[in-house]
Amino acid sequence: MKKDRIIIFDTTLRDGEQCPGASMNLREKLEVARQLARLRVDVIEAGFPVISDGDFRAVQAIAREVKGPTIAGLARCVPKDIDAAGAAVKPAGKRARIHVFLATSKIHREFKLGKARDEILRLAVEGVKRARTHVADVEFSPEDGSRTEPDFLIEVCQAVVAAGASTVNIPDTVGWAVPEQFGALIRRLHEAVPAFASGKAVISVHCHNDLGLAVANSLAAVQAGARQVECTVNGIGERAGNTSLEEVVMALQTRADVFAGVTCGVNTRQIVKSSKLVSRMSGLLVQRNKAIVGENAFAHSAGIHQDGILKKRETYEIMDPCEVGWGQTELPLTKHSGRAAVALRLRQLGFTLGEADLNSLFVRFKEIGDKKKFVYDDDLGALVEGLITEVPETWGLEYLHVASGSQTVPTATVRLRKANGKKGAAEFCQDASIGDGPVDAALKAIDRLTGTHGTLLEYSLRAVSQGKDALGEVTANVDFGQGQVVTGRGASTDVIEASARAYLNAVNRFLGQPGTRRPNGGQP
Ligand code: KIV
Ligand code: ZN
Repeated sequence: MKKDRIIIFDTTLRDGEQCPGASMNLREKLEVARQLARLRVDVIEAGFPVISDGDFRAVQAIAREVKGPTIAGLARCVPKDIDAAGAAVKPAGKRARIHVFLATSKIHREFKLGKARDEILRLAVEGVKRARTHVADVEFSPEDGSRTEPDFLIEVCQAVVAAGASTVNIPDTVGWAVPEQFGALIRRLHEAVPAFASGKAVISVHCHNDLGLAVANSLAAVQAGARQVECTVNGIGERAGNTSLEEVVMALQTRADVFAGVTCGVNTRQIVKSSKLVSRMSGLLVQRNKAIVGENAFAHSAGIHQDGILKKRETYEIMDPCEVGWGQTELPLTKHSGRAAVALRLRQLGFTLGEADLNSLFVRFKEIGDKKKFVYDDDLGALVEGLITEVPETWGLEYLHVASGSQTVPTATVRLRKANGKKGAAEFCQDASIGDGPVDAALKAIDRLTGTHGTLLEYSLRAVSQGKDALGEVTANVDFGQGQVVTGRGASTDVIEASARAYLNAVNRFLGQPGTRRPNGGQP
């Protein structure tokens, strides 16, 4: 039996990145996009080009550099959005897609847009036609589709397909749908719109997880005729997130008996690596018990389960962990490993670094190797990702000394390097501060030196690999006022140093953002 292909449309870099504090810089986005290509998703929604210069440049760079998947840019149904999206995805050539959207539900028409149905229809058709002047592949989304009157939704689908859309995506924008009803809606559209039944146009779904039903709704839609699923790695996204890519893909594969007529092209062995990369790049940690990619997803603690697994894996495991990329670790490196061995391991892990990056990474590798016995693949991943998350370094950490203890006032002395000092050369400055604890003291000293005043909104510390000497990775969500919340990351075997590095990374990101007013108080 010939199976229908389910198109996996990944929106980690657009809807996923819309999640507060998850914003990524250009290099981070490129690295995620390259990994999505290795994961073999069919479509990468790379961003919303009209939103900012940064978004435009990221979509353009991904369209230029990432080979394999179709590259999509999002646009509202307005000419300036569509033209920006068209220009940004152009380098992808025949693999370029524009995704236009316009709300269609009664509540959005009346309260958000103040437009009647016929005006919405007209704008949707005009938007699709304009997008078709840029690219052959146009997707249309009736925003809040699941809450739109079904008759009107059918009318919209027919009109946009006639105008040239080859994919119509039905979003459950507010995560309101439940599987039976959402499946019935998709089946109704499939039957009522001839282009869906004939395969001339693809029906897609885009579910949000407000009721924890995004994956269930997407699967119900597949049963009802949807042939594209929009999703994100780790399910990240606005509010409670989007459909989780790994869960949908593994449900389709593991329950091929239920989803007998469909298949998808994802390379499941790249799932765990993609999950770890997205988590580091977005600063959003994966909960331990998250299906497929959580640390506990394949951990069996009950003796009876362990016994069963040893006798026959399938007694308690419905998936082979190797199938999703768990347990592919090589022997750890040590401080004696040479540059060539490190470069080789990096290539095996899928990282392609230039000469200069490899040199700085090797310096950090040796520092870490001196402090801990083994450097694991995850440590190496953290170092590479630390390099990628580096922003132009206005301030660099030169020296840190902290004094703390139960009978001591926590004190930190910090020495920073300022990249462009008075005569354009690097300058050094130092200061000290007391604080509620050693981390607080170190961050206060950094604030004194840089003239910033950050408020720590969230702080998390995790061990990157095993052992007491594990590399600690800190993710800090910092509010610098001016409505700017920035995520910084830093890793070290010393958790106070990791905290200072993460905070300094956030300071550099804040200072590097266009429109940031440079604080005056900073030295020198
Ligand atoms: O949730 C939503 O409705 C969206 C659309 C832009 C597809 O993200
Ligand atoms: Zn969405």
